[in-house]
Amino acid sequence: MHPFPTIPRHIAIIMDGNGRWAKERGLPRREGHRAGAEAVREVLDACKELGVDYLTLYAFSSENWSRPEAEVQALMTLLDRFLREKAKDLDQKNIRLQAIGQLDRLPAKTRALLDSIIARTAGHTAMTLVLALSYGAREEIVSAARSIATEAAAGTLDPNEVDAALFASHLQTAGIPDPDLLVRTSGEMRLSNFLLWQISYAEIVIVKKNWPDFRHGDLLAAVAEYQHRHRRFGAL
Ligand code: FPP
Repeated sequence: MHPFPTIPRHIAIIMDGNGRWAKERGLPRREGHRAGAEAVREVLDACKELGVDYLTLYAFSSENWSRPEAEVQALMTLLDRFLREKAKDLDQKNIRLQAIGQLDRLPAKTRALLDSIIARTAGHTAMTLVLALSYGAREEIVSAARSIATEAAAGTLDPNEVDAALFASHLQTAGIPDPDLLVRTSGEMRLSNFLLWQISYAEIVIVKKNWPDFRHGDLLAAVAEYQHRHRRFGAL
């Protein structure tokens, strides 16, 4: 395989700026999230067309639980709607759904819906959509450390065997290749507790637009930026 595949195998996105998008239009924040869900649909299709194998979306962070209850509720309703509407589409398009994060914190109904689609699409092979829900990288890393420590204390794991690969196999992303490209919208230059272990070598592309304005063409532009960086690197 070419050392720098033209198309990133895994794209991870921090979808930021829904609130600002709504504010600029004098709309309630939930309208920004609703428009953001539309952008999700478009970007998922664009990734499939491009031949991206994995798309991971930061849909709800562990910190987002501290937003006003009405906003949390609106986000969960949007997520439910997205899952209900997309279930058939994911099936038809041969897309597998996975989720990372503290899923037991989700409302029971949302969790059940999520689990059923994950099970139903488990055998799909064209692409994988990973939703980060109630996700926080530090929590994920701490949880991996705890399970390794538990195995070591039980005598089933030799501490000398703990290396990067073993550690990664205890993360929720076990089996998923690390992201090649991390995109963040709305111009913010922060990682916000997203995939801190996994993005060690990812190219980071910051896009000024708010997430609801992010379109097919913006994804292509981010991939072109990624390709440009790789061409330069390859020429050294
Ligand atoms: C950041 O904007 C976005 C979120 C907290 C949630 C992202 C959710 C969606 C795009 C819709 C639902 C998801 C799916 C998968 C259907 P912000 O509210 O932090 O914006 P701000 O920084 O401008 O306030």
